[in-house]
Parts: sequence; structure tokens; C-alpha cells
Amino acid sequence: MAEVIIVKDQEEAGQIYGRAVADLIKSKPDSVLGLATGSSPLAAYRALARIVRDESIDVSRVRGFALDEYLGLPLDHPQSYHSTIHRTVVEPLGLDPEKVHVPGDILDGAPLEDGERIALAGPAYDRAIEAAGGIDVQILGIGTDGHIGFNEPGSSLASGTRVKTLAEQTRIDNARFFDDDISKVPTHCITQGIGTVLKARHLVLLAFGSGKAEAIEETVEGGVSAFCPASALQLHPHATIIVDEEAASRL
Ligand code: GLP
Repeated sequence: MAEVIIVKDQEEAGQIYGRAVADLIKSKPDSVLGLATGSSPLAAYRALARIVRDESIDVSRVRGFALDEYLGLPLDHPQSYHSTIHRTVVEPLGLDPEKVHVPGDILDGAPLEDGERIALAGPAYDRAIEAAGGIDVQILGIGTDGHIGFNEPGSSLASGTRVKTLAEQTRIDNARFFDDDISKVPTHCITQGIGTVLKARHLVLLAFGSGKAEAIEETVEGGVSAFCPASALQLHPHATIIVDEEAASRL
């Protein structure tokens, strides 16, 4: 059973994450952070960056692996998760960009037709995480349909990193980042699998607002099911779910 913490707002949630991760980096300077995009983790990254600065914590050896990436966008596209992770995490924290990886990096905009390269990219990413010694803390957001990373409902709970088709609802939700034009939202992605996520030693899922209430109810109180990928957190020995009152309103 995951631990659920109800907080006042995103700042309070961010402070909990920032403090825990700063202490981790102090005790293990080459910590491996699992990183996520989306709006939910932003206050957490800001809090961590503040603590790192205030306490002059050495982050030069910290490593990072992001959860997911769109397929078909060049790495330097402003909405690629490669760009997003560098803008929201690597730069504010002062991490070594060479030590932070995003699953699409080795594809760099490869076309979907390049089947062989695409098939090899997922397993190569999982091997890189293992070679780094595994992820110490994985931060997670949650989609309104219960997805984590880009593992949409129906994803195997044992899956590794692989290429997936994006659900229509996710493309609609994410059109706001592409001039509100769904035709500009990529159709495919590469994402850590649920099995990959579950290998991290500590999972921290953040959710805010009433739009996430149903997904949080399914995650915490529903049965473990591929129809709510985040419900897999119930299988993890150390999962922390931090929500505001609105996201917790159906618990
Ligand atoms: C995207 C990302 C997910 C993220 C989700 C929710 O689909 N691939 O990793 O959790 O959006 O985003 P937000 O936190 O902005 O609600």
C-alpha cells in the first residue's frame, strides 16, 4: 500500500520532494534521479534547486534518466522532452548535461519507418539504467486516464521501455503545448515501461487539482489493473503519493 500525503499546495509537495532528494544527494553524491515532464513536478524541481543552492550541495556527479519522449520530434524542438528536461531540471539544478538521459536521445528524431533503430532503443535505455545501478528516486506525474510516463491504460504492468502509440485523450490533453493544434501532437512516443518504473527504489507520485481526483482514487483504492497504470504503485514496497485536497477529494 502506498503512503498518501495530503498537502496544502504544490509548494508544500515540492518542499517534501526537494528535502528528501537533497538529503539523498548529500549521502550519495552520484545518486540516480528518475525525472518526469509535465506541470506536476515543476514546483518540486524548483524546491530542490533552491535547497541545492542554499546548502551548496555538490550535484556534479548526479545522474538522471527521464521517463519518456515523443517520437518524431528533433531533440532541439522546444516541446521535445529532451528540451523540457534540460530547461526545467538540468539548467536550474546545474546538473552535468552529459549525465542526464532522455529515452529518445539515441533516436534524435528518427522516422517511425526506421523500425530496427526504434525496436532497439527501449532495451538499450533499460540497460543504461541498470548499468547506472538503477534509479534511486523516480518522480511521477499522472495522466487524467491514470497513465504514468506514457504508459496508457492497457499497458502491461511488466513492460520495459518501448515505443507506444499515444492515446487520443493524451494527445488532446497535450495539444496545449502544440498551439492547441492536435495535428501537431506526435502520434507515438518512447516510454519507460511500468516494469522499468517499478524497479526504482523509491517512487514519488505528485498530483494536483480536481482533474486528477478520479485517477488518484483508482490508483490508491482501485484494484491493481492495467486499466489504471498508476495502480501498479500498490505493488511497490516504497511508493509515496503526494496530493492536494482536490486531487484527494474522492479518497
Ligand atoms: C504527460 C507526461 C506524463 C505526465 C502527464 C501529466 O502525458 N508524459 O509523464 O505525468 O503528462 O502532466 P501534468 O503533470 O502536466 O498534468
